[in-house]
Amino acid sequence: MSADNQTAPREQFTGQVGFILSAIGSAVGLGNIWRFPGVAYENGGGAFLVPYLIALLTAGIPILFLDYAIGHRFRGGAPQAFRRIKGWLESLGWFQVMICIVIAVYYAAVVAWAASFFVYSFGLDWGDDPQAFFFGEHLQLADVGGADPWLTFDFVAAVLIPLVLVWVVVIAVLAAGVVKGVQRANIVFIPLLLVAFGALVVRALTLDGAAEGLNALFTPQWDALGDPDVWIAAYGQIFFSLSVAFGIMITYASYRRRRSNMTGPGLVVAFSNSGFEMLAGLGVFSALGFLALEQGVGVGELGIAGVGLAFVTFPAIVSEMPAGALFGALFFGSLVMAGFTSLVSILQVVSAALQEKFALSRTAAVLWLGGVLGTVSVVGFSTTTGLILLDTVDYWVNNMGIVASAILMCVFVVWVYRRAPELRYHLNAVSTTQLGAWWYACVGAIIPVMLGIMLVQTILIRIDEPYGDYDETYLLYAGWGTVALLVVGAIVFWAFRWRGPDLPRAWPPYPPVEDPAVRKEASR
Ligand code: ALA
Repeated sequence: MSADNQTAPREQFTGQVGFILSAIGSAVGLGNIWRFPGVAYENGGGAFLVPYLIALLTAGIPILFLDYAIGHRFRGGAPQAFRRIKGWLESLGWFQVMICIVIAVYYAAVVAWAASFFVYSFGLDWGDDPQAFFFGEHLQLADVGGADPWLTFDFVAAVLIPLVLVWVVVIAVLAAGVVKGVQRANIVFIPLLLVAFGALVVRALTLDGAAEGLNALFTPQWDALGDPDVWIAAYGQIFFSLSVAFGIMITYASYRRRRSNMTGPGLVVAFSNSGFEMLAGLGVFSALGFLALEQGVGVGELGIAGVGLAFVTFPAIVSEMPAGALFGALFFGSLVMAGFTSLVSILQVVSAALQEKFALSRTAAVLWLGGVLGTVSVVGFSTTTGLILLDTVDYWVNNMGIVASAILMCVFVVWVYRRAPELRYHLNAVSTTQLGAWWYACVGAIIPVMLGIMLVQTILIRIDEPYGDYDETYLLYAGWGTVALLVVGAIVFWAFRWRGPDLPRAWPPYPPVEDPAVRKEASR
């Protein structure tokens, strides 16, 4: 607790470049490299690009602007910003913080695996059988068939040690602050990531068999468009990948100076993120085409799904390639940099919320969150059942938590409290690119209706059939339990007394006032 914190001016990104790089650093993450190629392949290949683009334009970008407007106008992390819209809406902010908490604990584990595989790349340590190496030697995955335990506390040192290191580094970055920590990390890592990943994609495109791989990714299966699961996957991918609707962009926008262009940089961030996603699709599938050619099988027979794509199939490619170690280091190094900068942004949401609500100093907030979440992360995800828990929690938090959060934002901010005109006015007053009335249509109608239908569908599907052949009792705790945790956590945090400083007025005043005397009074 710090009295200084009550009066200290809000931290600010030093300028547009720092903000854009940080927002891109948040958006470009494991979702782009680890998730997108597999999701696209499983959901109709080239045809997936149709729901993907529709999701980007009708939901991703409009919600990104909604996040920016809320964060920039009300100058707070998610709970504080929502509280300034309507007192009790602070709970929605905590719901978003809970989403970040849940994502952070498993996201850090994947960054830690990638860091280990970066090191393994140099000696091609996975040998002839990357599958046995990843699941057996590296994760020491428990055999969870039949009556075997779904949750153990058998720790795996090869996962635990890098995971602890990831937490230590991320805590150090957050403790250094928005400018010296977050912004600096992004200014270093994002250009480096672009160079490393760009080199990887160029190399992949020149491999024998690359064209076959690209055909496999881009050959459209149009019938997939009639499948609601494909649309759910597209919207889920966009939200996760663009880091919208779970507090990140609200928090980052709150560190922008008051007079800052918001919409133009927003478009840069959105299209850079999707551009990177396409680049990842090209790189990964070119490499898969090469592996299929080497093994004399079709790309579809390589078993491309989930985590296996990055940690089993890629090592296999690296082993087959000339100068594979370099290729492996570029791939896993990119995964670490992309994942790390996103992890920083996810945890900044938690840090800002704790600082503001409990009037904590930055260091105290970061130490609290690092200690508690780091411990949960290590206990939950460095055991022999960590992968199963990770897969389950990832599915529920993305397909239900984030989607529900986006719907709630639209319903309460736009419908119930009718703040869309004020938020649009705000963005237009500070930005060069103006938002038209189409934005109302997206945040007021298309998003809540589409996402509402999808959420109901997802819930019905999951009630009907267990996810991933996992045990039903286990799913009740780990899957539905995750949703319960989001809700209960939101209520508990909200229930504490707000100890932070008083609320400043939003600027510029709304409705706009022309009389200078009135304007002065309104902005006080
Ligand atoms: N936006 C981040 C990602 O894509 C969370 O991984």
